[in-house]
Amino acid sequence: MTVTRHVFDELRQWVGARTGLTLTTDRCPSVELVIRRAMARTGLDDDVLGYRRLLETDDAALDDLLAELTVGETYFFREPSQFQFIRHTVLPEIRQRRGHDHVLRAWCAGCASGEEAYSLAILLLEEGLVGQCRTLATDLSRASLIKARRGTYGAWSLRGEGALAARPYLHGHGNHYVVDEVVRRLVTFGHLNLALDFDSACATSVWGMDLILCRNVLIYFDPKTVRTVARRLYESLAGGGWLITASTDPPLAGEAPFEVVATDHGVFYRSGASSASRPIGPESARPEIACASSSAAQRDTGGTPAGAPAGLAGGDGSRIGARERDIATDWTDTALRIRALANQDVAEAERVCAAATQRHPLSSELHYLRAVLLLDLDRDEEAIQAARRAIYLDRSLAIAHLTVASILQNRGDREGAWRAYRNARDLCRARPAEEIVPLSDGEPAGRLLAAAETQMALIEAARRSHR
Ligand SMILES: C[S@@+](CC[C@H](N)C(=O)[O-])C[C@H]1O[C@@H](n2cnc3c(N)ncnc32)[C@H](O)[C@@H]1O
Repeated sequence: MTVTRHVFDELRQWVGARTGLTLTTDRCPSVELVIRRAMARTGLDDDVLGYRRLLETDDAALDDLLAELTVGETYFFREPSQFQFIRHTVLPEIRQRRGHDHVLRAWCAGCASGEEAYSLAILLLEEGLVGQCRTLATDLSRASLIKARRGTYGAWSLRGEGALAARPYLHGHGNHYVVDEVVRRLVTFGHLNLALDFDSACATSVWGMDLILCRNVLIYFDPKTVRTVARRLYESLAGGGWLITASTDPPLAGEAPFEVVATDHGVFYRSGASSASRPIGPESARPEIACASSSAAQRDTGGTPAGAPAGLAGGDGSRIGARERDIATDWTDTALRIRALANQDVAEAERVCAAATQRHPLSSELHYLRAVLLLDLDRDEEAIQAARRAIYLDRSLAIAHLTVASILQNRGDREGAWRAYRNARDLCRARPAEEIVPLSDGEPAGRLLAAAETQMALIEAARRSHR
């Protein structure tokens, strides 16, 4: 039986209501494709009702669909100025108000593969709060949570400008970094659908929070769900507690009775001063943070959610084939999906990216993205070729010149590296210092200019000492 448009639209709306995600075809043009592909993987290609029944009862099938509908893009110390704000303003304020013996409660809502929660844990550790903090990190995607609990990341997770702050707490193992046990012990991971779950073990743990990070999650929700989630976050805050959202998230003033705090680092929210004394009930009557911790028993080794239907594992060839065939036509959308995929599996992301560059050979963004992925896989020779292709298509791509420069420098080609740094320097100099450089994951031109100049000076000094 062929699925009629009406029946299919009903399914799409049901999935939207179940997840709170905006799945209208104008906001998310590939949604139909994604759902049809997920149906095919379960063998229920034409059986919409059967597939919906499966989604209602089988977490693994729902997770498989959500893995493609949601974007798990994240990295260590993303938006570093927000972490500075937490360090220098939020933590001192909480300490001063609640006393030095207070056990701080923090929640990363929509933590993806864990980089954000571990960044916060590192900060809490550095501020001397080990033993005096509880950090809960939740997400809708069970596949992301498996990765989060594993605490093992590639260089891809360290691509942001703030990632250096995480390095002292990451131990290198071949191509990968493992989060230090001291940091891992500070975080408890759990599954929670922000739009729906109000009575799971995790949901009953989210109360009395001094600090909530819910960043880059609300952007995927429809306005009604944004309001529901805003109220829920508000209710989860302790009196005077802080909510940090990302600079690109929708504004929450008016969605719940927050006190709005405008700062140099963005607009944040607090449960109002009047609610600073709001009773949150006796602690003994509330469950402690009660989801699965990242350590010991939770150390999963596989990449597939337990009980996932056969053939749904992230790395199998058939799935790659399907992804390649169905790559969205808009390459920016494609690049975003590849970035999210890279958080799960860099090698698969590179394969998808290679296919995408064949389909969109004129996209400098895709060629550059592939260069970054190849670097992460230690395939420097191919990486430099990909970065050069990006430059060939767009000579103004300062970040690609920097990538070429650093590969050449590592190879010992000082003159080549110097020329590439000079190109990057000239391009960055031509921009206002605070302007974010395209494809740089948030780096302002001034900072990249300084980095290029420093490297050029180092190369010149090395030249002189060899004369
Ligand atoms: C772009 S990531 C943000 C990760 C991290 N907060 C950051 O800013 O780097 C968005 C995350 O929100 C999660 N998400 C989407 N809808 C959700 C929902 N209804 N409940 C909980 N998490 C959800 C996705 O699974 C994804 O991991």
